[in-house]
Amino acid sequence: MSKHKYELIADQLCSLIDSGKYPPGSKLPAHRELAKELKTTAVTVAKAYQLMVEQGTIESFVGRGSYVASGYLKSVIRAQQDADELNFSILQPCLQQNMLALQQQFAEKFSTINKPQLFGYSENSGLLEHRRAGAKWCAQYGLEVGNPEQTILTNGAQNALASVIALYTKPGDFIALEAQTYPGILAICKYLGRKVLAIPMDEQGMLPEALQQHCNICKPSMVIVVPSQQNPTGATMGLLRREALAKVIEEQDIWLVEDEIYAFLNTEKTPAISNFVADKSFYISSLSKAISPGMRCGYLRVPQSEYSSLVDYIRATLWLPSPFMFEIASAMIDSGNAYRWARQQKLIAAHRQQLVSCYLADYQLQRQPSSYSCWLQLPDHWQADSFCASAKKRGLLISSASYFSCSGQTANAVRLSVMAIADEGLFIRGLQQLSELLALQSL
Ligand SMILES: Cc1ncc(COP(=O)(O)O)c(C=O)c1O
Repeated sequence: MSKHKYELIADQLCSLIDSGKYPPGSKLPAHRELAKELKTTAVTVAKAYQLMVEQGTIESFVGRGSYVASGYLKSVIRAQQDADELNFSILQPCLQQNMLALQQQFAEKFSTINKPQLFGYSENSGLLEHRRAGAKWCAQYGLEVGNPEQTILTNGAQNALASVIALYTKPGDFIALEAQTYPGILAICKYLGRKVLAIPMDEQGMLPEALQQHCNICKPSMVIVVPSQQNPTGATMGLLRREALAKVIEEQDIWLVEDEIYAFLNTEKTPAISNFVADKSFYISSLSKAISPGMRCGYLRVPQSEYSSLVDYIRATLWLPSPFMFEIASAMIDSGNAYRWARQQKLIAAHRQQLVSCYLADYQLQRQPSSYSCWLQLPDHWQADSFCASAKKRGLLISSASYFSCSGQTANAVRLSVMAIADEGLFIRGLQQLSELLALQSL
């Protein structure tokens, strides 16, 4: 039996992917654009793309288009780079800074570990003393903890996000997000079949009145916000914005997920939104950005009513995160070292942002004084995806706005991490190269 036209198109595109024309992570042409080129209809192209999604060759994201599979998150955020590459793509602390002190803390703690409980299973996601230390960490940056036992241990903030989405929403549900958001949230929604609802935002993050309107129409079951030093735009909510959002959440039938992983970078301690809606809110923090992502220590404060369901879910999916890491984390928190190291990272971020101001002075930049990233609006002669591709050819790894957008519209911007390049000299060299590239006309 001869093949349908859409199957032939899918075959043709697969050959182009194999030939390297479309590398992993690259974006495929929009339906209408390709239909015009192939003299067919957009519906036929959509069927071809659907077939390729089913085959696992490509991944499609509502409003953002289709990408060659096996590289989506990897192409936005590169954890490793080649020797001749400068990595402006990953948001992590400047790891060289506290390396020696961290090594020392690990060595001391591991050599004296003598608690039998650490070597066995524990109930409720982990030991109570570790959960209490997590509550202390969250309180330091603005959470009114209440009962510290309501803090659950997770494998980093990512595991906390995936757990609450899996447990408190159903496939097909809408989840309201800031219109530009952390791609790790978009990836969870995609894998679990949740629909994303892009809520307009300004320099203080999600707009409460826009959330209210979308709630009235689409009835999302959850809203997720990153209120401090938002990834990717740096947007940070002041107290009034937090109170206004809490008011909308209070009135609607919706769960709040408050991801405060960057709260330690704020200029001043600001109350968590969860303080105003404790019964409807999941508050997330972790040590990944302040101390080390390799520790995978995440903290999730849950409403009293949901505590049992969440600990059961953690038990069912991972039993518990490693107690050894949380033993060390708790020692860091209880001794005050964790806060000191977090403050040092904040100072580095502030200094790096000043360097960005010097070298990219001619461009429009969005960030806070000590954000880990900088949202750079590109001049009109550059388009975000092609700017990233040109930067990549020069060994500069940066992230295009298209990966962060959950609406159909993508800003003509890129995100630069200011922390991933440990050496300041190399960081400056990277900024100089970016500045030269920005001044060139698009290739
Ligand atoms: C907003 C946000 N939430 C969560 C995470 C993941 O954090 P963790 O390493 O603790 O899983 C990141 C990492 O970039 C992030 O930017």
